[in-house]
Amino acid sequence: MNPVKVGLLGLGTVGGGTLNVLTRNADEIARRAGRGIRIAQAAAKAYDPSSLSGLERVEVTDDAFSVVENPDLEIIIELIGGYSPARELVLKAIDNGKHVVTANKALIAMYGNEIFAAAQKRGVMVAFEAAVAGGIPIIKAVREGLAANRIEWIAGIINGTGNFILTEMRDKGREFTDVLKEAQALGYAEADPTFDVEGIDAAHKLTILGSIAFGIPLQFEKTYTEGITKIEPQDVEYANQFGYRIKHLGITRKTDAGIEMRVHPTMVPYQRLIANVDGVMNAVLVKGDAVGPTLYYGAGAGSEPTASAVLADVVDVVRTLTTDPENRVPHLAFQPGELDDIPILPIEEVESAFYLRMQVADKPGVVARIASILAESGISIEAIQQKEPTEDDSFLPLVMLTQKVMEKQLNVAIAAIERLDSVFGQVMRIRVERLDD
Ligand code: HSE
Repeated sequence: MNPVKVGLLGLGTVGGGTLNVLTRNADEIARRAGRGIRIAQAAAKAYDPSSLSGLERVEVTDDAFSVVENPDLEIIIELIGGYSPARELVLKAIDNGKHVVTANKALIAMYGNEIFAAAQKRGVMVAFEAAVAGGIPIIKAVREGLAANRIEWIAGIINGTGNFILTEMRDKGREFTDVLKEAQALGYAEADPTFDVEGIDAAHKLTILGSIAFGIPLQFEKTYTEGITKIEPQDVEYANQFGYRIKHLGITRKTDAGIEMRVHPTMVPYQRLIANVDGVMNAVLVKGDAVGPTLYYGAGAGSEPTASAVLADVVDVVRTLTTDPENRVPHLAFQPGELDDIPILPIEEVESAFYLRMQVADKPGVVARIASILAESGISIEAIQQKEPTEDDSFLPLVMLTQKVMEKQLNVAIAAIERLDSVFGQVMRIRVERLDD
């Protein structure tokens, strides 16, 4: 049988890795897929031929639209990234009856509902394993491997750049910007690195995970997103003293009231495996009612790890090319007519424990006043410590851990605390998750 001809959009970090891995492992991949797979045409504006193998058999153009119009191609791999023209290219490819494989989390999180509807109508597949946690096959695990479960919650380190920055700051005391530059040089960071450090990239990925876990439409705009830029070295140190590590987590959980969908710095007990996932590595913890907690760990970014996921999707598509569309794995894990309209909870309606840090005057009665404000709001303190002054003798850091509280209740208490004359500046808060329920 002739090889399946594929069009590749993008020959950058992931596109180059995809060509190289396919060239290197072509025989092994064909034995798995049941047919050879050949990248026949690629679109790229600029690329480095010396880093690519197998390029001599690929026709390269700078016109991506000519690739999605090429009638010889059955599958389009979209590795351009970003919203536009990726969206137009993917929709055009679908319209032309081509299957699509993409690593584009932003595209799926924002326009996935539209893209999947178009693909379903046209009877083609859109596969996106590489969009979440790079080389970790987390989409396949949640969508297929855990299909018997009611998923209860997912908590993941799903941005390698952010994890790399937090790890280097903690272990080596390095400067934020210096570590970010290194992540950019290694090809981990997004084109706009604020997507990494402000949690937007993780929110794209969490939006996708939440949808396939709970069978809800993609709703990126409702995902609460908070970055890591406000974390100070003293928070890292105090977290450590309480027995926690600060990780930038994406958390989605189904509760009786609705679905939590939130990305923020999180204190996790240091004994948890996920608290020990360092550097650029990703890890996703999934709790199913039948299987219990399961953990998936691996490279969440980079050329060949991401190519591994892209090519696994290509193999999946090739294996099911002749299958009736209705017998394929549904894009969002649940049959399209079975998606649920469960509300996504605003962050004020989410319950969690908190770490609080505030600067207080060194005089009698201050701690008692703060404790009484918290008590009046129904908030229990689990641990409290007054620290040595950091810069100025006139105030002292006061840190505490609370028990679980609804965020809107905490907001009221914090506003009252910040109004006290004996409290300076704003109260720093970090959500605490034990990840053991
Ligand atoms: N910028 C992303 C990260 C790349 O650092 O994880 C992979 O999606």
